[in-house]
Amino acid sequence: MPAKILAFSGSSRKGSLNKKLLAIAVREGRAMGADITEIDLRDFALPIYDGDIEAKGWPEGMLRLRALFKGHNALLIVTPEYNGGVAPLTKNAIDWVSRPFEGEPTCAVIAGKVAAIMSASVGPVGGSRQQAHLRVSCQVMRVILVPETVHIPFADKAFNEDGSLVSKGVHDAAVLVVRRLVEIANKLNP
Ligand SMILES: Cc1cc2nc3c(=O)[nH]c(=O)nc-3n(C[C@H](O)[C@H](O)[C@H](O)COP(=O)(O)O)c2cc1C
Repeated sequence: MPAKILAFSGSSRKGSLNKKLLAIAVREGRAMGADITEIDLRDFALPIYDGDIEAKGWPEGMLRLRALFKGHNALLIVTPEYNGGVAPLTKNAIDWVSRPFEGEPTCAVIAGKVAAIMSASVGPVGGSRQQAHLRVSCQVMRVILVPETVHIPFADKAFNEDGSLVSKGVHDAAVLVVRRLVEIANKLNP
């Protein structure tokens, strides 16, 4: 199966800067011919991970999200930074999806996928600190990471009214990240 990309933002809020960056990446990826499913993590209404909730039965949204992860071989994650760490919407979704069904190895539906990470934040480092944390989590989950990245600082000033990026250089960097994601996923899934 060639690249089949599941794309999501770690912020679901209206006007999210990360959703704007995700929209650009998805559009550019589709223009390259990539098969991309864009989802909004809010639609899965996942509770904060809690072993007691898990013991009572998998939340319905987790089952839907898990099935989507299973059906894709690549991930495009565009997520903000909260207090230097990974935004909880992203972290919580990944934590739920990493949980194995009985008899499965841990991270069964996420291990072996290729992931690209991008971020936008209003601060001066563009979410790069949380990217370091997220990359470690991805390594632990045996995810193959695209080395190229984009982290947009002062992102409240980085987008035009129509949602495009002010800087052509930043736009091109985002296109490169998506291209590498598609290339690597295609090579690994001929
Ligand atoms: C709880 C919280 C913590 C934040 N911490 C950081 C931070 O550590 N670094 C940073 O650059 N921006 C931080 N911000 C600001 C975010 O960059 C800003 O809210 C950004 O717009 C969030 O992304 P979004 O537009 O996609 O929702 C924080 C925002 C919140 C709500």
